[in-house]
Amino acid sequence: MIRVKSEEEISYLRESCAIVRDCLKFVGERICAGMTTKEVDTLVYDFIKASGAEPSCLGYCGYPASACVSVNEVVVHGIPGDRVLREGDIVSVDLCAYKNGFHGDGARTFCIGEAPEEKKKLVRVTEECFFRGIDGLKAGTPLYDIGYRVQKHAEENGFSVIRAYTGHGIGREMHEDPAVPNYGRRGTGVRLRANTVLCIEPMIAEGSYRVRVLDDGWTAVMEDGKCAAHYENTVVVREDGVEILTL
Ligand code: MF3
Ligand code: CO
Repeated sequence: MIRVKSEEEISYLRESCAIVRDCLKFVGERICAGMTTKEVDTLVYDFIKASGAEPSCLGYCGYPASACVSVNEVVVHGIPGDRVLREGDIVSVDLCAYKNGFHGDGARTFCIGEAPEEKKKLVRVTEECFFRGIDGLKAGTPLYDIGYRVQKHAEENGFSVIRAYTGHGIGREMHEDPAVPNYGRRGTGVRLRANTVLCIEPMIAEGSYRVRVLDDGWTAVMEDGKCAAHYENTVVVREDGVEILTL
């Protein structure tokens, strides 16, 4: 069941999402070669706590950290640890903040120093996929139009769309209905109502879209070992467009 939000609920979501936005910016200004993924997680934990919020991911279904830090062939849910970031890596940082009973969720993929052209293109196209996804999105849009647009842009650029993970609704729970796939047929799915809040998060692969989860039960890696990128914002569907809460 999709829970449409009141303006009051949206004002709380706006606050949680502003923390996510600012935290992603904070991390983006500091992430660099030589850092471990655990150090990135510590930046996230400290920032969210200092903002008077809680890191929603910490303890979620047993997840052991505040952020997902996913390097190169790791597409999502990379558990922070001893891996050292190197020049030329691409690193997705995905985090959620919980405040006043509402969650905000966002992710960015950062290049460490100068990344090779193909990786830079993957990061750019993944970000573009999000903006394609929300292009024309407003009350009444069929849900799977989002994925249709994301997929079209990814595949036109020679990349593939991860199928194993999707975007989602958000609110009092970090994951609410509906699932928001990054692929789909235009004109299908429920027609979205105004004040629906969605996390739209293209996960795009350089090679095949097939993913495997490591023995830690979380870390999702590309089966072919090629790179993947991830970009996510929380958005509110409005009568005449969308309001992006994490930008
Ligand atoms: N932020 C992720 C999302 O986009 C959730 C990560 S799973 C967790 O849905 F366990 F890390 F919380
Ligand atoms: Co999400």
